[in-house]
Amino acid sequence: MNKYESYDVLIIGCGGAGLSLALKLADHVSVVVLSKVSLVSGSTYYAQGGISAVLDQSDSVESHVKDTLNAGAGLCDEEIVRLTVEAGRKSIEWLCKQGVAFTQEMSQTGEQKLHLNREGGHSHRRVVHVTDATGKAISVSLIERAQEHPNITLLEHHNVIDLINAKKLGASEAEILGAYVLNTEIQQVQPIAAKCVVLATGGASKVYLYSSNPHISTGDGIALAWRAGCSVRNMEFMQFHPTCLYHPNGRSFLISEALRGEGGKLILPNGKTFMHNYDARGDLAPRDIVARAIDNEMKTNGIDCVYLDVSHKTSEFIQQHFPTIYQQCLSLNIDITQQAIPVVPAAHYTCGGVVTDSYARTDIARLYAIGEVASTGLHGANRMASNSLLECLVFAERASQAILAELKTLSTPNLQLPAWDESQVIDSDEEVVVSHNWDELRRFMWDYVGIVRTNKRLSRALRRIELLKDEINEYYGHFRVTSDLLELRNLLIVAELIVRCAQQRKESRGLHYTQDFPKLDESQAPQDSLLKP
Ligand code: FAD
Ligand code: SIN
Repeated sequence: MNKYESYDVLIIGCGGAGLSLALKLADHVSVVVLSKVSLVSGSTYYAQGGISAVLDQSDSVESHVKDTLNAGAGLCDEEIVRLTVEAGRKSIEWLCKQGVAFTQEMSQTGEQKLHLNREGGHSHRRVVHVTDATGKAISVSLIERAQEHPNITLLEHHNVIDLINAKKLGASEAEILGAYVLNTEIQQVQPIAAKCVVLATGGASKVYLYSSNPHISTGDGIALAWRAGCSVRNMEFMQFHPTCLYHPNGRSFLISEALRGEGGKLILPNGKTFMHNYDARGDLAPRDIVARAIDNEMKTNGIDCVYLDVSHKTSEFIQQHFPTIYQQCLSLNIDITQQAIPVVPAAHYTCGGVVTDSYARTDIARLYAIGEVASTGLHGANRMASNSLLECLVFAERASQAILAELKTLSTPNLQLPAWDESQVIDSDEEVVVSHNWDELRRFMWDYVGIVRTNKRLSRALRRIELLKDEINEYYGHFRVTSDLLELRNLLIVAELIVRCAQQRKESRGLHYTQDFPKLDESQAPQDSLLKP
C-alpha cells in the first residue's frame, strides 16, 4: 500500500473562494487547501473595486438582478442571479465577522455606514470596498483565520497535476478520489486523497499576452476538470478589462472601474471624450462595450493607448479613495491628480468554465467547483463589475452546505491510490520548448482570439493550438514535470476550449464579437456553448 495523506475535503486554490469554503467547513471536517505558489498568489489578492451587494435603502435586489441580466446579454441563469444577489448582505456580514474592515463614511444622520463605490453596468452605488485594495484586505483576514484553525492544513507551493478518477482505477463509475500534486519546493509528486475535492483555482486570463491577472491564472482547474470528464461552457466569453495601465513597467496593473464611478472620463490623446458615441451610459457602460470602443478608437486613430482622466477630483479625495493606484502611478512618474492615465484593455476574467449546479456540484461525483473556475450561470455572456467576489462567497457557502450533507452519507472509497509513476521519464534538456511555446500561444491568442474575432482568425489559432498540443504532449510523456510544463499543458486545453466555443457561436453577443456575424441572433433563444469531453 502507498503512503499518502488523506483528508475529508481537498480544496485546490486558496483565493477568496477556496479560503471561504475552508473556513465554513473546518468546524466539522478536516480540510487541506493548496496553493500552487504562495498563499497570496491568486486574483483575489489584487481585487480593487470591491464586492457588489444591495445595502443602500434606495437600492433593491430587483435592480441588482436586472443590471446583472443586462450585462450578461441574455445568457445569465435568472434563478442563479437571484439567489446570488439575495445572499449579498449575508456574505458581506460574514466577511466583516472574519475581520475585513470595509471603508466607511458618515451618514447624513451622523452614523458610520459602509461607503459604496459605483462601477460599470450598475445603476446604483452598491460596491463595498477597502479603499482600492479590497482583495488584499480580504485575503489577509481569511488567511489569518485559516492559519488559526486546527482543522485546516494550508500547503503552499503544491501544484495539482491531475485529479484521480476512480474509473481510471477500474471502478465502474466516475468519481474523484484525490489528486496528484507536485511539491515544487522539493520537486516531488505525491497523491493526496479526499472524500470530496473542490476546484477553486481561479481563471485563465494568462492565455493572453496582456492580462490584468497574476501569473497563476492559467486555467488549471478548467483543464483538470476537462481531462477528468466534466462539461465546460461559454469559454468564448473572456472578459477584457477596459483600463489596465499602459506603461512598460506596469503592464499588468489594473486601473479600477471605480475611478469612472467617480466621474473619471476616457479621452483620446487630443483630450476628446468618445464613450458617448458608443453607448448612452457613456464611461459607465458594461465592460464589453467600453473595451471594444477603446479597441476601435486605438485601431481607427493608430494610437497605442487612450487616457483616463480623474483630475476633476481633488488631490485629497484621490489619495484617500485610491491610494494604491495613486502610489503605483506616481512611482512611474504619473501624477493622476494632475495628469490623465494611459490605459489599454487587457484580459481580465473568465466568464465561462466548469459547469456546476446551484450547489457547486460538477458532472462528476465528489467533485465541486467554486469561484472563477466555475460556470454557475451568474455571468452569462459578460460579468458585471464586482459580481465575481460575490459569487466566490455565495458559492463557497452553498458548496459547504452540499459537502457537509454529502459527507454524512458518503463511505470512504476502498480503492488505493497508486503512486505517481516516474519510471519512464527523465529530466528535460529542452526547457526552451516550453518557454517558446508559452510565448507563442499567448501572442496568437491575443492577435487571433482577442477582442475582435473572425472565422479565419479562429481557424488559424486552432491549427496552431493543435500543433503545440502535439509537441507538449510528447514532451510530457518523456520528461519529468515542472510547473511551467504543467501550466502550458493546461493553457493549451483552455485555448482550444475558448476557440471551439467561439466557433460554435454564430453571432456576436456580450464579450464575443466576430466580424463574420457582427449582430446578436434575435431569431432564436440564447444558447450556452456547451462542450463535453
Ligand atoms: P483566485 O483568487 O485566483 O485563487 C486561485 C488559487 O488557486 C490560487 O491560490 C492559486 O495558487 C491556486 N491554483 C491555481 N491552479 C492551481 C493548481 N494547479 N494547483 C494548486 N493550486 C492552484 N472581482 C470583483 O468582484 N471585484 C473586484 O474589485 C475585482 N478586482 C479585480 C482586480 C484584478 C487585478 C483582478 C485580476 C481581478 C479582479 N476581480 C475582481 C476578479 C476577482 O478578483 C477574481 O475573479 C476572484 O478573486 C477569483 O477568486 P478565486 O478564489 O476563484 O481564485
Ligand atoms: C475593478 O476594480 O475595476 C475591477 C472590478 C472587477 O473586476 O469586478
